[in-house]
Amino acid sequence: MNIQDTINTLRKELNDHNYRYYVLDDPIISDAEYDHLLRELQALEKEHPEYIAADSPTQRVGAQPLEAFGTIEHRIPMMSLANAMSTDEILAFHDQIMRRLDDTRQIEYVVEPKLDGLAVELVYENGQFVNGSTRGDGITGEHITQNLKTIRGIPLSLRTESLPAPKLLEVRGEVFIRKNDFEKLNNQREAAGEPVFANPRNAAAGSLRQLDSSITATRPLSIFCYQAGALEGVRFTSHIEFLSTLKDWGLPVNPEIKKVNNIEEAISTHNELETRRNSLPYEIDGSVIKVNDYALQEELGVRSRSPRWAIAGKFKAQQETTLIKDIVLSVGRTGAVTPVAKLKPVHVGGVIVSNVTLHNQDEINRKDIRIDDTVLIQRAGDVIPQVVKVITEKRPLNSRPFQMTNECPECGHEVHTPEGEVVARCQNLSCPAQVKRRIEHFVSKNAMDIDGMGEKLIDQLVEKKLVHSFDDLYRLTADQLAELDRMAEKSADNVIHAIEKSKQTTFRRFVHALGIRNVGEHGAKVLEKSFNGDMSKFMAANIEGLEAIDEVGPIVADTIVNFWSDENNVTIVNNCFGMGVSLEKTINAGEQIFTDKIFVFTGALESITRNEAKEIVESFGGRAAGSVSSKTDYVVAGPVAGSKLKKAGELGITILSEKEFLDMLK
Ligand code: IVH
Repeated sequence: MNIQDTINTLRKELNDHNYRYYVLDDPIISDAEYDHLLRELQALEKEHPEYIAADSPTQRVGAQPLEAFGTIEHRIPMMSLANAMSTDEILAFHDQIMRRLDDTRQIEYVVEPKLDGLAVELVYENGQFVNGSTRGDGITGEHITQNLKTIRGIPLSLRTESLPAPKLLEVRGEVFIRKNDFEKLNNQREAAGEPVFANPRNAAAGSLRQLDSSITATRPLSIFCYQAGALEGVRFTSHIEFLSTLKDWGLPVNPEIKKVNNIEEAISTHNELETRRNSLPYEIDGSVIKVNDYALQEELGVRSRSPRWAIAGKFKAQQETTLIKDIVLSVGRTGAVTPVAKLKPVHVGGVIVSNVTLHNQDEINRKDIRIDDTVLIQRAGDVIPQVVKVITEKRPLNSRPFQMTNECPECGHEVHTPEGEVVARCQNLSCPAQVKRRIEHFVSKNAMDIDGMGEKLIDQLVEKKLVHSFDDLYRLTADQLAELDRMAEKSADNVIHAIEKSKQTTFRRFVHALGIRNVGEHGAKVLEKSFNGDMSKFMAANIEGLEAIDEVGPIVADTIVNFWSDENNVTIVNNCFGMGVSLEKTINAGEQIFTDKIFVFTGALESITRNEAKEIVESFGGRAAGSVSSKTDYVVAGPVAGSKLKKAGELGITILSEKEFLDMLK
């Protein structure tokens, strides 16, 4: 046998073993033997690259990393499914079908396990796998062809022993990770000091969305196909016929899928799946019940987001009881202080739960949750675990009620629950739990706009204790920056320069940058106007004064007063001014995007006055003129615009609505 034949034979042999393993679930060689054959093929192909075929199993190792995924529009939208939460709702689904169809025969259904993974679409042209994509929003998805090629269950070319390959086969399926593969993967990650995945679904999604397919290749991804997309050159009369042909073509189909004769059998199959749920080798969160006959599917048609011929029968949420050992407070990156119950670790729906958020004091009171209580924990799909209720019969005599303290567990500053809200928050500008996020916000484009201050740099500055709060930014030196990772001298200088430049700013930018809860970009503008850009007046404002401002309600007023009642915040802001931050009263401190452009405003303006419009244009470097001429660049026309608009039209000048004009400023 010559080399080319040997290579072809080896390739075919390996593809056959793959088929036996992934589709027939009936391997006849061990993994080690498979690997041995694969290495043999690899070695031969290395010497004779001219004989490498596109569907060689050696082509699954991953390709060059991508910058970004391309997108594709699905030829046929990938719909989602309506849910049935109970047997009654499954029966209602069936009743609706019976009402729509004249036919009174029994309706056959196909019942499939509903896998908890990621929906994908595979496209085969003349039997070759040509591309694959994620579901995305159902209309457009991301091209993840390279990543899908690394999944050994996906044949790179279709088998054609029993049926020739069609011109076009689009097939949808779920990519997922088996429970035991998930455990192995997490063990490996833990050993390597990498963060573990929360559940198989996250692991599958994270692995599929890698820009570097060689990483995807190391992840134990599986797939089951379950639905047709566009087809050309082949026709099926029923779903079950389609599924069985998929198997012949070498595509993995879930062996649990069953055709049943009527809705009662569908319901009992659904119930049986639910009882077997925990013993299946992968996670499922329900069943999918589909009308088998394609002609009937066609007759039933689709709604806007889901077909009428299928439904997802959901399983009951997974529940377990366990013990609350303690309740502690935790501060999130936004300053929200949340009580968290420390549990005796318990398996719920395939993951170990040892912490569960209790959300806030109101929730604790409402459910009367105490330390040493036995509670019912629930986890539904990928929803975060929650306490359903306390098992009061199991409450010990000495159970301890919990009352949140007023102190932030991270920094000791007083936490504040704004009027009418339930979440307590720490507003301390230098609270360590929040510092990174606060600084990120402070330097962002619409706030202080400090160029070159990315997340990585901020992480380092905070971790190396160079920055504890905003004012520290103005103390940084180029030498300090140059010592950080990935900081060349030039970029250190650039950052220092950007910090310096940011000092010339405006009230609205600075106040927005402070990140006072409930005061966003718009709020900062409102405050700028009403305090006339005077920071000290703003810092000294009381509730009544603030509430008197149009657009400032009691919650915002309360948060502001509380913010300035923290001495630390006042000091930080004053330090900033002490180090040169100054607030000019121009409307715009941004780019001169209108340099030398001439604007004419005509008609009634709605959200700004003529004067403000003029100021805006000037602050961005442009000029506002009174009449339209050939030199005019833009005419901004409100309703009832008259002769100026007409003239602009004649001269072919760009005409903008007030909204389009304001949008340019964003
Ligand atoms: S059929 C129009 N079959 O559930 C039919 N979907 O809510 C749409 N899923 O996005 C899909 N197992 O991610 C179908 N056997 C199965 C499924 C299944 C899981 C997922 C899939 C889809 C979602 C629909």
